Amino acid sequence: MAEPSVMDKLTSLAKRRGFIFQSSEIYGGTGSVWDYGPLGVELKRNVKERWWSTMVHQRDDVEGLDAAILMNPKVWEASGHVDGFTDPLVECGNCNRRFRADLPEVEGGQCPTCGTKDTFGEPRLFNLMFKTFMGPVEEDASVIYLRPETAQGSYVNFLNVQTSARQKIPFGIAQIGKAFRNEITPGNFIFRTREFEQMELQFFVEPGTDDEWFDYWMNARMEWHLSLGIRKEKLRFHEHGPDELAHYAKKAFDIEYEHPFGWTELEGIHNRTDFDLGRHQEFSGKRLEYIDAAAGKRFLPYVVETAVGVDRTVLVALVDAYTEEEVKGEERVLLKLAPSLAPLKAAVFPLVKKDGLPEIADKLYTDLRSRSIPSFYDAAGSIGRRYRRQDEAGTPWCITVDGQTSEDGTVTIRDRDTLEQVRVSAEAVPGWIQERLAAESST
Ligand code: GAP
Repeated sequence: MAEPSVMDKLTSLAKRRGFIFQSSEIYGGTGSVWDYGPLGVELKRNVKERWWSTMVHQRDDVEGLDAAILMNPKVWEASGHVDGFTDPLVECGNCNRRFRADLPEVEGGQCPTCGTKDTFGEPRLFNLMFKTFMGPVEEDASVIYLRPETAQGSYVNFLNVQTSARQKIPFGIAQIGKAFRNEITPGNFIFRTREFEQMELQFFVEPGTDDEWFDYWMNARMEWHLSLGIRKEKLRFHEHGPDELAHYAKKAFDIEYEHPFGWTELEGIHNRTDFDLGRHQEFSGKRLEYIDAAAGKRFLPYVVETAVGVDRTVLVALVDAYTEEEVKGEERVLLKLAPSLAPLKAAVFPLVKKDGLPEIADKLYTDLRSRSIPSFYDAAGSIGRRYRRQDEAGTPWCITVDGQTSEDGTVTIRDRDTLEQVRVSAEAVPGWIQERLAAESST
């Protein structure tokens, strides 16, 4: 039997340890939609927390926003998504399955499902937006879309945010939220899904300063991925050629990651010029210009956008962290997640279930949780098995309460990656962990 691929192993680990489950699995699943389990939801929250901290809390020139998923349908006419957010699609004349026309196999004329050659019809444009109806009547006038990007919520609220927060250009609006795309060829686990979350910044600048700000954000965003501990050699920039540019972009660079299935887009950085604000001004009939009273001028700002998927960042964190190694002749699988991203920070093990060790361990576990340090208590099985379970969960520190604890009050803390152990007073453990987390998150 063929050795399972890294992606297969990761998908199975993700299910086994409670990171990610297939949506509605008991009914056979829903195409390319995933649910985040107890560990997955923590990892996802930590990713969003790191982004919000860097992009909003640590800056005085970015404001947060949480716009609704449902928007006036004119938004999507103005943005160009009704006409332009399409993929070319072809249908196989034999099995009637539909595929993106730009898939390599399809370009070669072969159906990826049934293998039949040269039965494809003419390509047709297929809009990726999910459509539904608002209110009780299903008619054209009540069509509404699930947003395919969070960005438009920031554009239509540009003046609301700017005036209420008393911001001056340059400044940005940051959002984290769900987006939906009826992808024709989703796949590769959580890489391309139909429901996903985005972390997007729209940074409004004076025209003429946009190239400089574009360079600034390209570098800042690469630094952020590196600050999550992602290996430098697995990240690179890719500049969009004229045939790749989105309809709204003058210039775009992707940050790509080298997955087991190849180099693919993790984040997009776009110079959207005044395209979106200009179109909303035209379609709404409302002036959206910024007034610079001090300089006595008014203008439509240009926008530099940084857009990254939460799910893609989670996938990169998992793939980059996934490690198989041999320790003393035994295979060990671990997730070398940055401690700030790890769903559980610590696991507490009483070495034996006697001599008062469970009570001491229980107190330590309660202390950790009372300081909001997500932790796990495990008294089941050999110590080796307990370590292995936490290694797969990516827990950076395992704390063992042993015979010496009842004598001098110290416990051992084992480092997930180096396997080194240090003895620390049980009372000092929560502070010891908090110090390390704080040092990492401030980078
Ligand atoms: N507002 C600009 C925008 O949406 P995009 O390059 O289409 O640009 C931005 O998307 C990011 O959103 C991507 O770099 C990717 O991380 C994430 N993303 C896009 N489509 C996705 C999908 N189908 N599944 C998961 N993530 C997706």
